[in-house]
Amino acid sequence: MQQLLAPIHGFLRCETPQTWIDIARAESSLEELLIDHCNCELKAAQTAMFLLRRYALSQDSGRSLLTWAKPYEEFVYLKDRNIEQFLARDVKKNELIASLQPNEHFKFAQDLIPPLIRLIKEEFHHFEQVLELMRARHIPYRNIRAGRYAKGMMSHVTTHEKDILRDKLIVGAYIEARSCERFAKLAPYLDAQLGKFYVSLLRSEARHYEDYLSLAQLVSPEDISERVAYFGEREAELIMAADDEFRFHSGQPL
Ligand SMILES: [Fe+2]
Ligand SMILES: [Fe+2]
Repeated sequence: MQQLLAPIHGFLRCETPQTWIDIARAESSLEELLIDHCNCELKAAQTAMFLLRRYALSQDSGRSLLTWAKPYEEFVYLKDRNIEQFLARDVKKNELIASLQPNEHFKFAQDLIPPLIRLIKEEFHHFEQVLELMRARHIPYRNIRAGRYAKGMMSHVTTHEKDILRDKLIVGAYIEARSCERFAKLAPYLDAQLGKFYVSLLRSEARHYEDYLSLAQLVSPEDISERVAYFGEREAELIMAADDEFRFHSGQPL
């Protein structure tokens, strides 16, 4: 675990403050923690889907990708959701993956598709795992507002078309790295089942961080270290600043 976390801690500019842990571990936060975690998994899949559709896939394949996401999105966005039905549905993810066609006009299409498809698959699986835990604990899913973190990170993405993908990939790396750091830091304070689940997520989240970071360097003709440092500072500001709302990626509780 320490080996897995060493590069993450080197990448992030600050550690999650204990004030956040103290709120997150409280019994009264459990419902919001799990619902927001569930939403974060869907958002992570959607972000990767957006990048694939915008840059790497043919239009037809982009549409197939949307069909893949539909049951998850309907579960979250439609009011008449049924957790039992959703978890018992028939899934055919692998058939879709085999038939995806690259966008011929984007030279890194073949580099983006495999790691991002794998990431999407894993995020959807995590989404289902969180829902399973919620079902077992009789916590119903309900809509809650997203925190300010991801939006805050995205607000620093350049408007220069040629560098947007690089920046979004760096932002992806930070969000994944922070999630990984938080899972590890929070796990010992949670009940055994939840703690074990959070530790089980570390490996894939650490790989997502690595994949995003290496893709960011691949698509950029220049060295990205300065840009990485810039986003690292913005990210640490969001984590250390006072936040009036508790979320998985929120800042210091007021
Ligand atoms: Fe995940
Ligand atoms: Fe992830």
